[in-house]
Amino acid sequence: MQKITENIFYVGVNDRNKTLFEGLWPLPNGVSYNSYLINDEKVCLTDTVEVDFFTQYLEHIREVIGDRPVDYLVVNHMEPDHSGSLALIRKYYPDIQIIGNKKTFQMMQGFYGIKDGLVEVANGDSIKLGKHTLNFVLTPMVHWPETMVTLCVPSAAMAPQQTVLFSGDAFGCFGALNGGVIDEQINCDIFWLEMVRYYSNIVGKYGTPVQNALKKLAGVQLDYICATHGPVWHQYIDKVVAEYDRMSKYETASGLVICYGTMYGNTERAAEVIARAASEAGLKDIVMYNVSKTHHSYIIRDVFRYKGLIVGAPTYNTALYHEMDVLLSELAGKDIKNHLLGWFGSYGWASKAVSEIARWNQEKLHFEAVGEPVEIKQSLTPETTAQCEALGRAMAQRLLC
Ligand code: FEO
Repeated sequence: MQKITENIFYVGVNDRNKTLFEGLWPLPNGVSYNSYLINDEKVCLTDTVEVDFFTQYLEHIREVIGDRPVDYLVVNHMEPDHSGSLALIRKYYPDIQIIGNKKTFQMMQGFYGIKDGLVEVANGDSIKLGKHTLNFVLTPMVHWPETMVTLCVPSAAMAPQQTVLFSGDAFGCFGALNGGVIDEQINCDIFWLEMVRYYSNIVGKYGTPVQNALKKLAGVQLDYICATHGPVWHQYIDKVVAEYDRMSKYETASGLVICYGTMYGNTERAAEVIARAASEAGLKDIVMYNVSKTHHSYIIRDVFRYKGLIVGAPTYNTALYHEMDVLLSELAGKDIKNHLLGWFGSYGWASKAVSEIARWNQEKLHFEAVGEPVEIKQSLTPETTAQCEALGRAMAQRLLC
């Protein structure tokens, strides 16, 4: 049994089996599906867990409340990693009232055929559980249209007065919870970069809605943030909120991501020349990835950390090397702002990569172009080596100015 406050308990589960979250995102450290139980005059759950883990989930609930019924279930987010157990929880607690907003219930009917026993709330509505009051704040597109967060405020008679935010996906991150649940109980080192990878890949497109949500919560003194993935934030609340604020404004450090595809090593050699030139120009934060080896979620993570990006790839089958095409497509889908882009490419007998990268940028990415693109026929020459050096220097100078 994991206690958060006197009456609030963690009843979530860990998934260390899944290889790819949503079939897309690698999970080297697993992931947790977090649900919480408020044990008050009325018993209330917030969100559920992925349906494969229902048996454990039910055990966790019963560990807290025994045979008492659950009165309410707040659904902050309908994505099935959190709503997947709705139909089963209904079977075990047939009188449970499900709290959500109008859009929640439209989705609930579509996903699970549930259309009764519902309590519809609007932005600013409240429900009293006894010693705690739930206040509902609609936060559309963080990260689906129905998303909302729930503030749990204790009554004035309770001490200590601890306000808890059930935040849905917001402030969540990849990584299973290995024993401890609250940040102060655990070493959080693995979670910081996994939070950026989670945010950038899952929520990254929705910077403006995240900013709107942060404004709605500004001024609220929070003691705990209970997200649906990752640790419960308590000690690091300020750091976590600041990181979400930074990411949703697309603010980055003056670093450089260089990523490349390579078939025979010629494009990779060009990348090395560019990196060395950027380093010699004084740039310290440079990360490099081979797009065929590193999953694009890690590259996108670092694009949300660093302002500069240089991409390079060979031409393959008179088109852009496939893995680079995937990366650029994923980047374009994130609506990233305030970035710089340089690019280069190689070909054996028909040039296409460089013009295709330029087209991606002109039509979809809209990053600020830096330096002159470099096109390498077959292998580096003294002339193209000098062009690569110029590209690396130009990017470094632009980042350091
Ligand atoms: Fe963890 Fe948007 O679901």
